[in-house]
Amino acid sequence: MPMPLIIVPDQAALAAAAATSILALLRQKPDAVLGLATGKTLEPVFAALVASGVSFARARIVHLDEMLGLEADDQRWFGCDLRRQFLAPLGIPAAHLRMLDGRAPDPEAECAAHEAHIIALGGLDLQVLGIGRNAHIGINEPGSAFDSRTRVVAFAEITRSGMVAQFADRPVPTHGMTLGIGTILAARQILLLANGANKAEAVRAAVAGPVGPACPATALRAHANVQVIVDRAAA
Ligand code: GLP
Repeated sequence: MPMPLIIVPDQAALAAAAATSILALLRQKPDAVLGLATGKTLEPVFAALVASGVSFARARIVHLDEMLGLEADDQRWFGCDLRRQFLAPLGIPAAHLRMLDGRAPDPEAECAAHEAHIIALGGLDLQVLGIGRNAHIGINEPGSAFDSRTRVVAFAEITRSGMVAQFADRPVPTHGMTLGIGTILAARQILLLANGANKAEAVRAAVAGPVGPACPATALRAHANVQVIVDRAAA
């Protein structure tokens, strides 16, 4: 199935378009279950959602992925970004959030609990995704099965190399936890976002390359309600 591709001029327009799409769902369903990525692509989207003044008081938030092995008080946890950039400014109550907790003593059990939580909520209404330079979604690196569920995974080397600057003081994490591709595909709607020239090859592969686990984002082409929004540099 071809994926509808929307190309906007720049990162600001990308954030605005993504926010419009998320807010449209929220207007329709104020208690929507939103699966959210973090990262540089999402940061301006969160800012646009906060600036909109729309209430997320009834929405349920589910965290997409997290690293393992950082110190408990490290500020680089993906979850810290989610709290700082989105949950705190919007005053989203802790009870409306399911974090993937990288500090959990049993990460596999944490993944199983996350998966069970999504099912208990009735599934994700919308999953918002960024994309890796190797077309990973969440931390579903190349080779991930299209029916994979939430689990502990190893970062690909190219992903770790992209994290070096951020982890100058300690080894780059080797493992993380992520919603599986099967879990993502079960969402009723999916929004894939990319900006910048360093994502152009991944976007091309995702929308036009051969479908298969070698390119995780191609799994989205089997989904009936996916929207891809990219800026001109990423297109
Ligand atoms: C990271 C995260 C993803 C994120 C993607 C893009 O490795 N695991 O959740 O969507 O890669 O990140 P960024 O938007 O910072 O480029």
